[in-house]
Amino acid sequence: MDLFEFQARDLFEAHGVPVLDGAVAQTPEEARAAAERLGAGVDGGRVVVKAQVKTGGRGKAGGVKLADSVDDAHDKAGQILGMDIKGHTVHRVMLAPAAAIAEEYYFSVLLDRSNRTFLAMASVEGGMEIEEVAATKPEALAKVAIDPLTGITPEVAQGIVAQAAFPAEVADQVASVIERLWDVFVSEDATLVEVNPLVKTGDGRVVALDGKVTLDENAGFRHPGHGELADTAAADPLEQRAKEKHLNYVKLDGEVGIIGNGAGLVMSTLDVVAYAGEAFGGVKPANFLDIGGGASAEVMANGLEIILSDPAVRSVFVNVFGGITACDAVANGIVSALALLESRGEEVTKPLVVRLDGNNAEEGRRILTEAAHPLVTLVDTMDDAARRAAELAATAQGA
Ligand SMILES: Nc1ncnc2c1ncn2[C@@H]1O[C@H](COP(=O)(O)OP(=O)(O)O)[C@@H](O)[C@H]1O
Ligand SMILES: [Mg+2]
Repeated sequence: MDLFEFQARDLFEAHGVPVLDGAVAQTPEEARAAAERLGAGVDGGRVVVKAQVKTGGRGKAGGVKLADSVDDAHDKAGQILGMDIKGHTVHRVMLAPAAAIAEEYYFSVLLDRSNRTFLAMASVEGGMEIEEVAATKPEALAKVAIDPLTGITPEVAQGIVAQAAFPAEVADQVASVIERLWDVFVSEDATLVEVNPLVKTGDGRVVALDGKVTLDENAGFRHPGHGELADTAAADPLEQRAKEKHLNYVKLDGEVGIIGNGAGLVMSTLDVVAYAGEAFGGVKPANFLDIGGGASAEVMANGLEIILSDPAVRSVFVNVFGGITACDAVANGIVSALALLESRGEEVTKPLVVRLDGNNAEEGRRILTEAAHPLVTLVDTMDDAARRAAELAATAQGA
């Protein structure tokens, strides 16, 4: 989960990373009040108004503006709110005192999956996009692998500072900031903590002016407070509902709803449906949904309910390989799921293609055949079932 800058700022502050004061506003009026609190216009005090969107390059896109009075902050917020930055609409701005920037640096620490370690990167060429520094001046970007067992100790931090050639007068401050950022990384279970720019101010202080943090959602159970950081307004409503029902669901943009048991099976089902769909005008899977090994009728019903309520879905492919939960149990699950949905007042109108294989497949098929639900078609193989589901989606679309 990526955080907004203001959320990263708050985490930084909680871990002792030097940051500026900040205030969030959703309207120009709120921005005016925030600017007043931050002292805009008093003794030449200026503030920055910053778009809060989860993408970089806000400055270049016009999403970071200076204001020299409370009225100016009001107007700048008005210009930035509602702005579209790389497909992200700005719903909030953060106001901060304008810093007198003497130098701009870069620091990040991240999970380096390909090298199976953590990686710290630092540069005295901050401010601009770090990809650019890496491409045009790779020697200016220090990269230091971090041993997960020792982490960033004071010695490791000094080593990073030396390798990146930070000026002597800020070396100790930067090293201490790096240790604190490592503390953010570890104690918040982050996979990325990036500060660009980390600045030296006119009076020689080192401050994090921007912050980008990605939290590891798999560690969410250790952080009850992290739930509040989720941007529920931006979440896909179907994914949100699926999450509430503890379903492993990802919305995709095709037309064939997919339910399977086991992540591997569902992944390959997406592939065969996409492949089969090519023959029917490019029909594609509408979602990923793994109901897991021991799925009950209720889980099946919840899954079907989510998928059937997706207006983009034209047909549904239920692909089950019976293992510990045998096919007869799954077949009973499908039958009761359909009954359950109808009893909940959800009219099922979309065709379902079901493929059952594995443990007790024959008995499972018998149960479905006997139930003779008008919308359910049984198909023996995964490929044929994918084709049938794609065809039904294509014809339903034309209808
Ligand atoms: N509080 C601030 N005071 C002065 N300048 C700032 C402040 N915050 C950001 N800036 C300037 O704006 C630039 C872009 O802001 P930043 O927060 O890094 O957004 P982004 O990385 O999305 O462009 C920074 O590199 C810095 O030069
Ligand atoms: Mg930045």
